[in-house]
Amino acid sequence: MTNPKTVLVTGCAGFIGSNFVQQFKNQYPKTKIIGIDNFSTGRKDALDSSVIFYRGSILDAKLLDKIFFTHKPEYVFHFAALPRVSYSVEHPRQTSEVNILGTVALLEMSKKYKVKRFIYSSTSAVYGNAKQLPTKESENHPDPKSPYAIQKCAGEYFCKLFSELLGLDTVCLRYFNIFGPGQYGDSPYSTVVSAWLEAIYFPKNKKAFIEGDGNQSRDFSYVDNIVLANILAMESKKDLGGEILNISDGCKITINKIKKLIEKYTHQELILEKRPSRLGDVRRTQADIVKAKKLLGYNPQVNFEEGIKKTIQWFELRKI
Ligand SMILES: NC(=O)c1ccc[n+]([C@@H]2O[C@H](COP(=O)([O-])OP(=O)(O)OC[C@H]3O[C@@H](n4cnc5c(N)ncnc54)[C@H](O)[C@@H]3O)[C@@H](O)[C@H]2O)c1
Repeated sequence: MTNPKTVLVTGCAGFIGSNFVQQFKNQYPKTKIIGIDNFSTGRKDALDSSVIFYRGSILDAKLLDKIFFTHKPEYVFHFAALPRVSYSVEHPRQTSEVNILGTVALLEMSKKYKVKRFIYSSTSAVYGNAKQLPTKESENHPDPKSPYAIQKCAGEYFCKLFSELLGLDTVCLRYFNIFGPGQYGDSPYSTVVSAWLEAIYFPKNKKAFIEGDGNQSRDFSYVDNIVLANILAMESKKDLGGEILNISDGCKITINKIKKLIEKYTHQELILEKRPSRLGDVRRTQADIVKAKKLLGYNPQVNFEEGIKKTIQWFELRKI
């Protein structure tokens, strides 16, 4: 069994990074977790006290060298990013720096300090409007439609290149829509689950709305399933060589069904302002997760309904 002495988690104060730390430390209590974050979208209260934490940017070459030299992490989990599509449209240069150059900087350090595997967080946004559903990695070539998608796609190519050219083992996990505790719904970039729960529990922060008829569907995954995939990607005995793997539940759930479930488990009615469909909005997404099943033995553990209940519990605790 893999039992690393030290791992590095970038973006450890963010939504997925903080959930990852929580669960990783329970599964690997002897492993030292080093974290880096500059709190650009992350939160101080999400930081786990067990993390040896560096406040700073992944663009700071000196800081990265110090971290890698001091701790020699065996695995790097790269969650740090500026991950909002519309923000990337407004700030293409800044987001390219963090999402592309930040990734390349970490790959360089990982190569220099002989990291065993670099685990990269990618996104289904690289598919653009995927032609096939469920979407298979091999049948749907990247067709990015935003700066964010281009940046994440570039990160995947760099991972592959570092594996092929420089012998650093890497793997790219393409997540679809993720939700769960730690995802706040009060920003203009919030996704539907967190935004609607925010509107129910903190109506002063957020007014809820729906775009289009609500029959559009998405492949939603509870955050624990994403954490699981990252841990399996570390544990794999195979050489992953830059492989790209869809990570989600492989299901499709309509926005209207989400509304029903939220109302059922919060016992409250969700009042939604109706808005027209967003221009260019994709009608349906659904991942084919066969490759991740075969290569990593990945199987999502928490289904959508269970995930919603756990997320509601977290919102209820926040209210107290
Ligand atoms: N949440 C989703 O639905 C989703 C879907 C697909 C892919 N992803 C990817 O998963 C990863 C994590 O996403 P998330 O939802 O947790 O986002 P998040 O915004 O909650 O977390 C990102 C973290 O990175 C940190 N960060 C940003 N720029 C940094 C920098 N220059 N230096 C150091 N830290 C920096 C932020 O402060 C934040 O804590 C991202 O790479 C994102 O692209 C997320």
